[in-house]
Formats: sequence, C-alpha cells, structure tokens
Amino acid sequence: AEDLVVLGIETSCDDTAAAVVRGDGEILSQVIASQADLLVKYGGVAPKMAEEAHSGVIDQVVQEALDKACLSGKDLSAVAVTIGPGLSLCLRVGVRKARKVSGLFGLPIVGIHHMEAHALVARLTERDLQFPFMVLLVSGGHNLILLARDLGQYLQLGTTIDDAIGEAYDKIAKWLGLDLSRSGGPALEELALEGDSKSVKFAIPMKQHKDCNFSYAGLKTQVRLAIQARNINAEIPLSSASHDDRKARADIAASFQRVAVLHLEERCERAIEWASKVEPSIKRFVVSGGVASNKYVRARLDEVAKKNGLQLVCPPPSLCTDNGVMIAWTGIEHLRKGRFDPPAPFDEPEDIL
Ligand code: KG4
Ligand code: ZN
Repeated sequence: AEDLVVLGIETSCDDTAAAVVRGDGEILSQVIASQADLLVKYGGVAPKMAEEAHSGVIDQVVQEALDKACLSGKDLSAVAVTIGPGLSLCLRVGVRKARKVSGLFGLPIVGIHHMEAHALVARLTERDLQFPFMVLLVSGGHNLILLARDLGQYLQLGTTIDDAIGEAYDKIAKWLGLDLSRSGGPALEELALEGDSKSVKFAIPMKQHKDCNFSYAGLKTQVRLAIQARNINAEIPLSSASHDDRKARADIAASFQRVAVLHLEERCERAIEWASKVEPSIKRFVVSGGVASNKYVRARLDEVAKKNGLQLVCPPPSLCTDNGVMIAWTGIEHLRKGRFDPPAPFDEPEDIL
C-alpha cells in the first residue's frame, strides 16, 4: 500500500486541480489553475463559464502534475476524481479526464466525495490521526460537523439550513467593495484586522435552537442592512475609499467575522460535548475546508478544542482550500480498503454521467 502512486483530479467548483500523491503521504506534485479572473468578471461562479474554463485547462493541469512528479500515466496505480458534491457541468470535466487516463493506462478509478476529501486530508498532514475524531468542514458551499468513526463512517451532527459561512464571507466582501481577485474570504479577513469587532451589533444566529445546525442567511441580511445604513458603496473600491469610509467597512468586517465565528464556536462546543459521550476516545478536532485557512477561525476553534480537552488539527491553508492532493489522498485511503472501480473502457461514450 505504501508504494501506491495516485493521480487526484478536482473540478467541482472554480479550481481545476490535479496532484500526484504516494501511499506514504509524500506529495509528488500539485497543480491548481484558478478562475479568479472569471470570479471578478461575473461576481461569482457561473456554471457554464466555469465548465468552459475547466475544459480549457484540464489536459494541461493533469500533464503538468505528471511532469512535475517526473512520471507518466503508466507509473500510476490509480486515478482518483471528485464525483460530487459540486456543479455537475464542472464535475463532468474531471470525470471525463479521469476516465480517459484510466482507459489509456488501464488504471482503476476511485470516485471521491469532495467533503470526505476535505476531512481526510488531515490524515495526510497529521500521520498519527486515528479514527474516531471530530470534524468541522467550513467552505463556500458547506458547513458540516461530523463525527468520523471510521473510513466511510461519518455521523453528521450538524449542517447549514441555508448558506455556508464561506458564502457569507464572499457576499459580504463583495458588498464591502473588496478586491475579489483572490476570493472574498481572505480579503475580508485582512480588512477585519483594521476594524473594531464590537462596534457593530449583530445577533448570533439560531441562539434559541439548541442543536448543531448552522444558519448564515440571517446574519448576511443583518450585515447588508448595516452596510446600507452606513451608505457604503460597493462600486467604490476599498483602495479609493476615504479614511472614515474605510474604517466603517473594517468595523463591519470585524464585527461580522466575530459573530460568524461565535456561531461556529457555539455549535462545535455542543457537538463535541455530545460526541464525547458516544465516542469517549476522541482526542482530535479537525477543521478543514476553505474557511479553515482563516487565522481568526483557527485561533478561536483552537480555544474550543482546548477547553474540551481535544487537540485541533488544521491542514495548512493550501490543503484547506480545494486541491488535488486531498482527492489523491482520499483515493489512497479507499484503495487500501479495496474500494475502486475497474479501468474505464477505452472507447467510452462521451456522455458519462
Ligand atoms: O473549500 P473551498 O476552497 O471550496 C469549496 O468547496 O467551497 O472553500 C472556498 C471558500 C470561499 O467561500 C472562500 O471565501 C473561503 O473558502 N475562504 C475563506 C478564507 N480563505 C478561503 N474564508 C475566510 N477566510 C479566509 N482566509
Ligand atoms: Zn471544497
């Protein structure tokens, strides 16, 4: 199992990513083509545009991943590819490519669940991370708390009833006129450092619901109203804003971030308390997904972990946001358990999903 060499392909959202990872966790290569320019142009992910962008670069991204690893397709043990959740038009591009490589070199295919990969990549970066452990996944499309009991056994303790936290970061960054050439989250995190996080009062979501679910739609609305009340104009970029205007934006960013993360903290505390009764041997709390690259988020959740006698495990930012490594690694985890599909037929029909 240690000598497995797996190509991972990820195209579920706006990044086209590929990587080659070895069974012992060595990352042989990693390539990401992002669609940041499209995001700026359309103010978000437009599925048709994203599909075209993936199609345009997928061959090159996969080739580059192989070249950087100094390998050819015939050196691989298998191809792992994201099959969901995500935009189906985009997923198709990755699956089609995976089947092509599989057919050409007679390689097994492992279909990967995107969120499982976000969680399991922590077992690559933290080699002694054993099941069971707690997981919080925070990204642009998902907000999940899971109890990972074993490979493929995830007990969902909470999910979002509307928007995910990353989606809130992205929208609010846009309303605050931030530079979206990266994505909204990092821009908002940076601006929040200049603001007073207690200056604008926002209510913590779902305080009266004593469960582990999340909601960010209401907080988004509260923030939108606060932005309107202060006459902040998203058309004026932050770089051209007056000193007072900039301060007003920073105060909103910091106040939003504080409450958004308080909501995470509260839900996680409850979930950990519950899970510790079911699985008293839990020692680690994994936080992953794009939003887990946020330093404030990490620091606050580290406190939650400590308070509950757990150790926080957060993959490095480059492995928290969408990437091919997590897909390849999750493929390795499944291959070890004998879970994969046979090679794709060489003459595959065009429409495969
Ligand atoms: O996991 P990911 O790359 O893609 C999805 O599966 O959604 O997560 C992307 C999300 C975006 O909403 C982005 O704004 C957010 O993660 N994000 C951040 C930060 N970096 C990325 N949010 C807050 N602070 C950050 N530093
Ligand atoms: Zn993701």
